[in-house]
Amino acid sequence: MSGQTLTITPTANPGPGPVAPRMLTGDRPTGRLHLGHYVGSLANRVRLHKRYESFFIVADLHMLTTKNSGQDIAAVRRNATEMVLDSLAVGLDPAHSVFFLQSAVPEVAEINLLLSSLVTVPRLERIPSLKEMARDAGKKEMPFALLGYPVLQAADILAVKATAVPVGRDNAAHVEVAREIARRFNRRYRPVFPVPALIHGDVPSLPGTDGQAKMSKSLGNAIYLADQPEEVRRKVMRMYTDPARTGPGVPGTVEGNPVFAYHAAFNDRPAEVAGLAERYRAGKVGDAEVKEKLAAAINRFLAPVQERRAAFAADEGLVPELIVTGTERTRREVQRTVADMRDAMGLTAAFTEFRRHARLVPVPNVGDQCDVDQHR
Ligand code: TRP
Repeated sequence: MSGQTLTITPTANPGPGPVAPRMLTGDRPTGRLHLGHYVGSLANRVRLHKRYESFFIVADLHMLTTKNSGQDIAAVRRNATEMVLDSLAVGLDPAHSVFFLQSAVPEVAEINLLLSSLVTVPRLERIPSLKEMARDAGKKEMPFALLGYPVLQAADILAVKATAVPVGRDNAAHVEVAREIARRFNRRYRPVFPVPALIHGDVPSLPGTDGQAKMSKSLGNAIYLADQPEEVRRKVMRMYTDPARTGPGVPGTVEGNPVFAYHAAFNDRPAEVAGLAERYRAGKVGDAEVKEKLAAAINRFLAPVQERRAAFAADEGLVPELIVTGTERTRREVQRTVADMRDAMGLTAAFTEFRRHARLVPVPNVGDQCDVDQHR
């Protein structure tokens, strides 16, 4: 993609943190990744991942906030595999990427609970993306877990003490909550967390093929990274464009036109785009030509992506191995964070004191013995 700029929210007090900067981001395992994911977050992941220690979460616990049927959960393995393959296909180097399954790091749930005292319900109720998610999922009332979605996301981010979080527009407000929670924890107890920087792409949100503000699987208006050339062409030729333009001789509007938004994001021939825009404004080009050239440009972008995808997919053991080793690595990291948090909060001391004052009673059965330290 051309002219991508990096925007980092300045951090007044970065707090303590690991020496190596860490990145954490990821997705819910609900399906394949699409062009909207690419411009919002994937492009930044690819560009930055070698400069950071990079963690990529398969956020199946987040998925439960709107999709929690047995079927949804049974699909996690397949969807996670597709997502990891999509990530490798766009250019993440498996040697520089730690992929992990959120539900297999149960300490994240403990962190979520400890952080939930540091944020209020009205603060969460003001976040528009949560209402949108509830509506898109057909929920009449806000599920408790969905209101807590940004807190769980803060738990993921802080669990690995991430310093940078590349996300699309929908997730920006959630990262803001994570930053607030980190500062609050550091102030109330002691500095444990770096305040993570939000990193967003310069096309924070790509419209859907139907002209709606965002591309989304649930809205059925997405072009997937794995879509084959004919499928891409079919979707592009049916794209929403300037509705006021009734024929090729009528001057059209380029600004806010999703066809041109896609050209700007994916066409690697800027002179071609400028020429089309000029002729479009003058009423000297048909929609069909503009769309044919867009389909060709997207397919030029996707061809190497799909070639890499096929190569990674041919190695069947690769994704399971990446997820298992990545999850084990992440879990060790997160266990250290929980210990730091409990220590900073004084929770460790509380139980230690009880233990010190407890009368020594004979343990009736070694099998029933419960030693909290064994779980740390
Ligand atoms: N909320 C992200 C999504 O829209 C997924 C996610 C979960 C995430 N935890 C995260 C993203 C932590 C960045 C950082 O699917």
